Amino acid sequence: MAQKTILRALAGETQDVPPIWMMRQAGRYLPEYRATRAEAGDFLKLCYNPELAAEVTLQPIRRYGFDAAILFADILLLPQALGADLWFVTGEGPRLSTITSDADFAKLGTKDDIHKTLNPVYETVKILSKELPKETTLIGFAGMPWTVATYMIAGRGTPDQGPAHALKAENRPLFDKVMDILTEGTIEYLSMQIEAGAEVVKLFDSWAGSLKGEDFDRYALEPAQKITAELKARHPNTPIIGFPREAGERYIGFGKATGVDCVALDNSVSPEWAASNVQVDGCVQGNLKSSHMVTGGQDLVNETRAIVKAFSGGPHIFNLGHGITPDADPENVQLMIDTVRNG
Ligand code: CP3
Repeated sequence: MAQKTILRALAGETQDVPPIWMMRQAGRYLPEYRATRAEAGDFLKLCYNPELAAEVTLQPIRRYGFDAAILFADILLLPQALGADLWFVTGEGPRLSTITSDADFAKLGTKDDIHKTLNPVYETVKILSKELPKETTLIGFAGMPWTVATYMIAGRGTPDQGPAHALKAENRPLFDKVMDILTEGTIEYLSMQIEAGAEVVKLFDSWAGSLKGEDFDRYALEPAQKITAELKARHPNTPIIGFPREAGERYIGFGKATGVDCVALDNSVSPEWAASNVQVDGCVQGNLKSSHMVTGGQDLVNETRAIVKAFSGGPHIFNLGHGITPDADPENVQLMIDTVRNG
């Protein structure tokens, strides 16, 4: 029987106090994170420096005692390991070499080439599995193929994922090749994280909401089902959290269709709706609006209590609906935790 609170929730146990962690908990809202990032030089150097990446992963655990730590890395390291160029423009976000033709695709490597680049990430996991407090669960992660493909195809973040939708419409065979190599690479990447000591893995499909109808089945559900089935075959005891962000009605049945142990919810669905439509099938995670970490006050307390109450009848991991933002006040994070734990 699993003892850690997060593992108990993922095994389907309803707990009086839900375990809690927070997306982007190691991030720019924390002064100690900013200091360590400066020491590393920049964000990517931090991702590939196992000692410092482990240090920033541990910072929010020391400060707040969250129930889980999430490996410090980024979903765009996998495309880089497959051969894409990757850099971050300060104040703007990620940039990558684009994929618009078969010639661009031909420059990429295969799933067997990724570990050389990603080895420091596995080292970070190994350090963390030694250094984390015994009650803290270590979560590994990867981006889902569709979300990663939207960045790889466009070469940057886009408001509507237009370039990826366009490639899907205009050159389906090439688009499918991109999805396939990302699916294969994600399986190998997560498998290595688990072998290094990740106890849970989370699949981030941040742009799942822009896939409609059959596209959602083919490019969100199917890859999640395939990745989950293969990881379960290799590592049957490692729980998996799926996060098809902004899936809306498509959250219904997502857990059953893909086999993930927990469905992470964004804040566009109400907790009451999600309790009766999603949590009926198993564990859910979420879903406080990140903006409460900026504004704080009684609204934060009331909304946190309402979410805990709505999900109190089943397995629940408390989290935000998306990552905490750099302008958040660290004291509001403490207020959220105190409200979850003390009512
Ligand atoms: O949650 C965690 O604390 C774990 C680490 C983590 C990061 N990114 C660190 C990061 C995780 C799980 C991610 C996931 C990620 N990365 C996603 C999916 C989740 C989501 O937020 O929707 C996406 C789309 C990315 C790609 C990415 N990385 C973008 C678009 C950006 C720039 C955004 C910005 O706010 O500047 C990043 C950078 C990034 N990844 C930062 C962190 C802490 C900030 C970089 C910095 O320190 O300068």
